[in-house]
Amino acid sequence: MSTPTPHIPVLIDEVIDALHPTPGERHVDATFGAGGYTRAILARGAEVVAFDRDPDAIAAGQDMVAASDGRLTLVEAPFSALESELDARGLAPVDGVVMDIGVSSMQLDQAERGFSFQGDGPLDMRMSQSGESAADFLNSADESDIADVLYLYGEEPRSRRVARAIVSARPLTRTSELATVVRKALGHKPHDKKDPATRTFQAVRIHINRELGELADGLAAAERVLKPGGRLAVVTFHSLEDRLVKHFLRERSGAMPSGSRHLPPQAAQAEATFETIGRAVRPSDAELARNPRARSATLRVARRTASAAWVAGEL
Ligand SMILES: C[S@@+](CC[C@H](N)C(=O)[O-])C[C@H]1O[C@@H](n2cnc3c(N)ncnc32)[C@H](O)[C@@H]1O
Repeated sequence: MSTPTPHIPVLIDEVIDALHPTPGERHVDATFGAGGYTRAILARGAEVVAFDRDPDAIAAGQDMVAASDGRLTLVEAPFSALESELDARGLAPVDGVVMDIGVSSMQLDQAERGFSFQGDGPLDMRMSQSGESAADFLNSADESDIADVLYLYGEEPRSRRVARAIVSARPLTRTSELATVVRKALGHKPHDKKDPATRTFQAVRIHINRELGELADGLAAAERVLKPGGRLAVVTFHSLEDRLVKHFLRERSGAMPSGSRHLPPQAAQAEATFETIGRAVRPSDAELARNPRARSATLRVARRTASAAWVAGEL
């Protein structure tokens, strides 16, 4: 078994400044991971309801629950379900919601989870460890569906060529096999800065975990559970996610007409439900020196107004 590197929380000072947790408040950490944000919120005296859909993250967090004097509730569920999960426990509304989107270092560094092309592991990539795996998808989907996933979620310009190579190499069962197929299809020089398999792995992971749909649903759920004055802080790691958050906040703060193709259709006259606070925040040079994995992180922050949440539609 490979040993996971501990996860270093990204933009943590900026996130805690934005949430400004105080004793007596309740905050949602929608992506518990190794609990870096949760620990910092608890240290400010607030309560935390933390979500993760990875059973390993929930199991590893039980010591923190035991040490929290009843101030931490850990929930194994996707954050798209955060409203119903809070309602079921009588824990809504809340004063803050933070989301730190993407995979944790523990997930990435354990070859057995199948997220990385750096070590060899089963072609899995499921955060929740259930449902369709990357191998299930790549070994059964039509070539054109694979190409669409690579193009949309990996922004892979040669998606058709890669999809064709994947289909001719089936069945694929290991991450190293997928990486080799992609490198061969695209041509790989040892001094290439970026491995050509990067975009394919990102795309398949986003598809398998329904990551953009989860993010859109999670943002809409945060709008429904936040109190007036409640704070929303979202950290993303690539442009597809950041674009979705930016459009959601622009739309909900009245800065953009409704109708983003990523977000549910809305009533045209709905009132602003968020005020954006500041501009997008990027890690400082000092943080990047400590934690190079923070390099593509972007934080966006907003404050909930008192207006009713917009009516949810279908994605
Ligand atoms: C980047 S890590 C979070 C790290 C955390 N902020 C920390 O300081 O330790 C993301 C975590 O969110 C979880 N996750 C990602 N998408 C999720 C979703 N839609 N619902 C619930 N958990 C999710 C992943 O399983 C992973 O453990």
